[in-house]
Amino acid sequence: MLVVRTIADLREALRPARREEASIGFVPTMGALHHGHEALMERARTECDVVVLSIFVNPTQFNDPTDLERYPRTEEADVAIAEKNGVDFVFMPSAEEMYRPGSTIEVRLDGPLVDSLEGAHRGSDHFHGVTTVVTKLFNIVQPEVAYFGQKDAQQALVIRALVRELDMPVRIDVVQTVREDDGLAMSSRNIHVKGRDRERALGLKAALDEAQSAYDGGERDAAALTERAVAAMKPFEVVPEYLAIVDRVTLQPVETVEPGALVVIAAPVGPVRLIDNTVIKDTAQLTRSA
Ligand code: PAF
Repeated sequence: MLVVRTIADLREALRPARREEASIGFVPTMGALHHGHEALMERARTECDVVVLSIFVNPTQFNDPTDLERYPRTEEADVAIAEKNGVDFVFMPSAEEMYRPGSTIEVRLDGPLVDSLEGAHRGSDHFHGVTTVVTKLFNIVQPEVAYFGQKDAQQALVIRALVRELDMPVRIDVVQTVREDDGLAMSSRNIHVKGRDRERALGLKAALDEAQSAYDGGERDAAALTERAVAAMKPFEVVPEYLAIVDRVTLQPVETVEPGALVVIAAPVGPVRLIDNTVIKDTAQLTRSA
């Protein structure tokens, strides 16, 4: 495995793979790697000839300077995890390497996909930062497939739209959320969730589970289902920043809940803000056909 820090070195390192028309799988990350990232690396390893992992804490997507400052940086451990998962190249550029002095580039999508939910609460500049850096990374790596986690469901939809609108020849593969044994969705920010907050963090999964069980119990009204999900967080002393039931492609709120609807949630827990989501399943149907 090779660790490279400049764009020129990565291009050089990938030259033989390109000459041989090897398929390049790409896992873009901000580091502090966990099992969720490992699932992306594993998928890339199985599907592609060459796997590139990037680790770059992208300043342009942070709306909160304290969040950027506190974002965990665990370079040495990350490199070991990448190696263990069969990554071929780790790309770890500096901020100056990615954004040259005087750089003014911004690649942005507008509209409800970026303005709703995370965009409404963090500001749509968050997604403008994501689409800018992902475009740059895709141009640098030129992968055939890029891997993203379902935990950041909105991000995955934004990236799909980006690739579609810019006609980029990259397939976007979205990999299921990986959870701790007790259900907490894996996230780099979990490092800061300690003590009682660690128990409180389970409020997010409790809300998602409640939404599914309300659906299983016959509730189809989105407002009623949302209310039950919010109530399920109360024992955990967690108040959502938003909890919404939306169409899983457009992210527009639904009134009547059908299988495939996406339940999305964001909530502050101690010093961090956590997000999670689930897709409503028709479990009755599953049981009938089992
Ligand atoms: O999901 C992330 O870690 C980041 O948003 C990404 C896609 C690496 C862009 O900085």
